[in-house]
Amino acid sequence: MFCGDGFLPLIIRIRDGMFDPETTELAAGLVRIVRMHDRETAVHLDATSALARRIANAMQLPIDVVMTIELAARLHDIGKLGVHRDVLQKAGPLTTPEWGAMRMHTEIGAAALQDTPKLAFLAPIVRAHHERIDGEGYPDGLRGDEIPLESRVVAVADAFHAMTSALTILAANAGPQFDAGVVETTLTLLHYGRRKRFSIAS
Ligand SMILES: [Fe+2]
Repeated sequence: MFCGDGFLPLIIRIRDGMFDPETTELAAGLVRIVRMHDRETAVHLDATSALARRIANAMQLPIDVVMTIELAARLHDIGKLGVHRDVLQKAGPLTTPEWGAMRMHTEIGAAALQDTPKLAFLAPIVRAHHERIDGEGYPDGLRGDEIPLESRVVAVADAFHAMTSALTILAANAGPQFDAGVVETTLTLLHYGRRKRFSIAS
């Protein structure tokens, strides 16, 4: 499944140092720094990266593209290092200025990667991970195929993890906050029943 046009680009990218151990370790180090700033974001980066790799594999993309997507997903929210922790961890809705600061994470992340030679190839992917097919996304309002395919995969993995995280929170609060039976019925309805993924305290 990864033959043909898959291996040659990979060999070229390995030759050019894009996927050498130093690159992987550099990315891992950045995620460790993110963890110190905001643990939730680091957890999200790890989960999104794993899911994005699975999606890319299932799409039968060439192996070098799969690896690029995995690495880009691992760093897609790296720009949140430039967003104040009070905004990242705010429990209630964000104000307009706070939302503006939050949206800047795409540009901050891309700029930081662009200035890091081993990771610069990820900058356009990271910059575009909040673009939308209908052109209503940010920061550039790209639409459809203007959005890099790698960004489109990261965007779906990103959103899916955010959604399943919300379901995990729902399950964790079944009992003290929400009616446990209603939550269990809801999660089962959504195919996320007790036995499948979440444990509901009762
Ligand atoms: Fe993001």
